[in-house]
Amino acid sequence: MLRILSGIKPSGTLHIGNYLGMIRPMVESQERGLLFCFIANLHSLTTLFDGPRMAQNTLNALIDMMALGIDPQRSVFWLQSDVPEVAELTWYLGNVTPVGLLERCHAYKDAQAKGVPANHGLFSYPVLMAADILLYQSNIVPVGRDQKQHVEVTRDIAVKFNSAYGEVFTLPEPEIAESVAVIPGVDGQKMSKSYGNTVEIFGEEKAVRKRIMSIVTDPTPVEAPKDPDKSVIYSIYKLFVDESRAQAMAERFRAGGYGYGEAKKELFEAVWGYFEPFRRRRSELADNLDYVNEVRKTGADKAREVASATLKRVREAVGVICS
Ligand code: ADP
Ligand code: TRP
Repeated sequence: MLRILSGIKPSGTLHIGNYLGMIRPMVESQERGLLFCFIANLHSLTTLFDGPRMAQNTLNALIDMMALGIDPQRSVFWLQSDVPEVAELTWYLGNVTPVGLLERCHAYKDAQAKGVPANHGLFSYPVLMAADILLYQSNIVPVGRDQKQHVEVTRDIAVKFNSAYGEVFTLPEPEIAESVAVIPGVDGQKMSKSYGNTVEIFGEEKAVRKRIMSIVTDPTPVEAPKDPDKSVIYSIYKLFVDESRAQAMAERFRAGGYGYGEAKKELFEAVWGYFEPFRRRRSELADNLDYVNEVRKTGADKAREVASATLKRVREAVGVICS
């Protein structure tokens, strides 16, 4: 069965760019293979140095992903640090990873460019990510475009390992849904928590409305016809509604006499309505942390079963088992 794997860092509140670019494709992938989905808390440690906040974000991320449709009955869902095998594999992989490969990776390069002192964790971030992917012999990794490089690095590392020690690892493929590869934020740039231009998935109604109403638009007057494909409003709206509602907005844009303010109100209604069942589910889960913790534990057990089988082969291959 096809193995699909993806992880998400618990480093802040989730936004609709995360949802459309990565979470929704991942949830949908539960229909076509065995999904491995985890909260990448070890990755967040490269940039977040606040224990209590880290713990709180992690719990929130577990709840968020369950609320958004990860089904622990059908999928393997766990917290990265609950599977210590990943740290051991990171070490083995690190020894077949050329430094030059990591120097070219974007998180480290960005830190260098900004003159921010990088730590070793940030530098070796892609090796930990390779361990995440290879430990579960994943075939497909659904991610947003910004993570493609990391999946390619994973392939390079797997090829190096396999050529040194024999065919131990499956080579994964990144899978990027092109229509949602880069969701724009309220200022038109890529939506990202680092740019402060996000629309949160589980924000308060007033705040979400305010955010959507603040989408930057051009000064075209209300009466003038507008090109829907040039508008952030339409490009997000069409991803939350069915074809006929999307068409209807596109026609109103083209016809003229339709202002951006009105379009933003419609976008807010669509987004708010879309997440309504997820909000309800989220609040049920938040009131039932025993269940959340039980899911976390069962998920870790399932993940460890697969992880330890791979690690056994790796240990034999590299020769740390001598009996
Ligand atoms: P952020 O840029 O807000 O820090 P992350 O880097 O934590 O978001 O991304 C988590 C996941 O969501 C990744 O798979 C990433 O590719 C995806 N993602 C983030 N922002 C967007 C976006 N604007 N459009 C599409 N996918 C996105
Ligand atoms: N690096 C990913 C991000 O920033 C998160 C992540 C960690 C991940 N390990 C992974 C994604 C393995 C896919 C597969 O979004």
